[in-house]
Amino acid sequence: MIDGNTRLCGLIGRPVEHTLSPAIHNKLAADLGQNLVYVPLLTDSDIGTAVSGAYALNILGLNVTVPYKNDVIPYLKDIDPLAAKIGAVNTLVRIDGGYKGYNTDILGLKRALDCENISLSGKTIVIIGAGGAARAVSYLCASEGASRIYILNRTSDKALELKKDVCAVFPDIHVTAGALSTAGEIPEDDIIALQCTSVGLFPHVNESPVSGSIFFRKICFAFDLIYRPDETMFLGEVRRAGGRTSNGLKMLLYQGIASYELWNDVSVDEAEASKIYTILRELVRGQ
Ligand code: ATR
Repeated sequence: MIDGNTRLCGLIGRPVEHTLSPAIHNKLAADLGQNLVYVPLLTDSDIGTAVSGAYALNILGLNVTVPYKNDVIPYLKDIDPLAAKIGAVNTLVRIDGGYKGYNTDILGLKRALDCENISLSGKTIVIIGAGGAARAVSYLCASEGASRIYILNRTSDKALELKKDVCAVFPDIHVTAGALSTAGEIPEDDIIALQCTSVGLFPHVNESPVSGSIFFRKICFAFDLIYRPDETMFLGEVRRAGGRTSNGLKMLLYQGIASYELWNDVSVDEAEASKIYTILRELVRGQ
């Protein structure tokens, strides 16, 4: 029931029409008995104007999506240190005088990996991709203390650029950058692979960023940030070679939960998370 005390949260970006975030936040608000609504806010104007307007309108919190995850940073009152290192925020939390920026995509990935009993500390990790998503994932791997990180990308120069940025912040982490075609040459076994490109996303379900059985046999666990289809061709290859797999839906779930927790200073338990996960699975399958 919306009344005079209802608080507003929303998603700023362009486009916002296909977002699943309203399903997460409005269900959380209903289940936790909080007087809050979450709506998509298509943002066509200058991002600085949108942020100051949101503050003036007493908006409690915002998610930020493409194309503003980097561009919003100069308009923040404060920023979480890991989000600042990554250079991308997806969550704005209202504080005195403005908003504080966080990157809950990365908190979401961390919690999704925790759910699978996967720790990145001391592990060999292969990151596939060198775009915005791979950048955030690389910083998480480095901050969690991976023993070696391989960044493999179609355009190897971009992998090299990302390697330089990660090493500038985490000088003690061993990072190797290369082309996707070098995946089979990685010497280590028991690799954790994090697939951060858009290759294999519906409707291109018969595409994989990497081919070759040697690489797939070395993977003990693979996470694909894609959640539509349920199993990308990449994850299928890992599973058939004997590795464990997870798609990106839990990352979506937990990034939303982390944002909600920051806005409302609450903690969402696993029973509630599992209810929201069921809803998200149905929505993705119906899309
Ligand atoms: P995001 O923010 O989702 O990471 P992005 O910054 O545009 O999006 O990055 C897209 C990533 O997918 C890049 O690593 C890109 O590789 P390039 O740097 O070589 O462009 C990768 N990618 C996209 N299409 C690809 C394809 N067909 N094969 C291999 N990699 C692809």
